[in-house]
Amino acid sequence: MTSSIEQAAQRSAAAAAAAAPVAAAPAPAPAVPPAPAVPAVAPATDRAPILRIAGAGKRFGGLQALSNVGLTILPGQIYGLIGPNGAGKTTFFNVITGLYQPDGGTFELAGKPYSPSAPHAVARAGIARTFQNIRLFGDMTVLENVMVGRHVRTRQAVLGAILRHRAAREEEAAIRARAQELLDFVGIGRFAGRTARHLSYGDQRRLEIARALATDPQLLALDEPAAGMNATEKLALRELLVKIRADGRTILLIEHDVKLMMGLCDRITVLDYGKVIAEGVPAEVQKNPAVIEAYLGAGH
Ligand SMILES: Nc1ncnc2c1ncn2[C@@H]1O[C@H](COP(=O)(O)OP(=O)(O)OP(=O)(O)O)[C@@H](O)[C@H]1O
Ligand SMILES: [Mg+2]
Repeated sequence: MTSSIEQAAQRSAAAAAAAAPVAAAPAPAPAVPPAPAVPAVAPATDRAPILRIAGAGKRFGGLQALSNVGLTILPGQIYGLIGPNGAGKTTFFNVITGLYQPDGGTFELAGKPYSPSAPHAVARAGIARTFQNIRLFGDMTVLENVMVGRHVRTRQAVLGAILRHRAAREEEAAIRARAQELLDFVGIGRFAGRTARHLSYGDQRRLEIARALATDPQLLALDEPAAGMNATEKLALRELLVKIRADGRTILLIEHDVKLMMGLCDRITVLDYGKVIAEGVPAEVQKNPAVIEAYLGAGH
């Protein structure tokens, strides 16, 4: 039986998809049987949390977009962040990745305090993200888009481009090889030489994930990676996320498709009007009356 939160979330997602600018029309959704639940990988509890945030706030003029938001993500988890449109999910990503200065809060990455200052510093600290509205270099090739992501981890990049030292040339070759490997990993290796904007919508989202992985992140933060995807693409995405986790990474995921989230996430935090209204394993969160109310009350 489909729960009321799923139905409400589907309507919410449809509204968001209708409002979002799309680079290419998604293919029509074929009938695909629901995927079996993914067995949760037991997270390593003896290690420090990958991410621990407490008391994060963000105000835009008169709007309190985030209010005392906290969450703790353990290594190896797929952690979900859900909530109705405008709840503050993307703002939270922008705060933890340095795009917005928080008004307050404590921030810890792998047991060490970090200051979410500049996006580049955040990438070096070990967080990589994708964007709700795809941000690729449309006129560059698919491979080059991933190579750009890799440069954050290399030393020779800037000087080397000018001097063309042997070390720089070798590093460039290594970057190229690693970028191709990542494209193969996300399933679009055959499109390496294609111009990025000519990829299908679903493949552009995969390219964004490959580019984020190029920074070798401990935490991969994905803002609505399934938006605009059909059922087949969503299944492939789900498999990819499980593979990324099996590769030793931790994932923080924003997604409106509640069914996808319930089968995939180890834990979920629910935001509404900038506040945490629920946190727990998917089965608990799905039954939480405050969560059902937030979704049903979101203008529907
Ligand atoms: N730069 C900004 N300036 C002013 N207000 C903003 C800014 N960014 C976000 N907001 C507001 O903050 C609130 C939270 O927005 P946010 O984009 O974080 O929501 P969301 O949960 O990601 O929603 P959606 O599911 O629609 O993507 C909204 O009311 C939004 O209009
Ligand atoms: Mg958003």
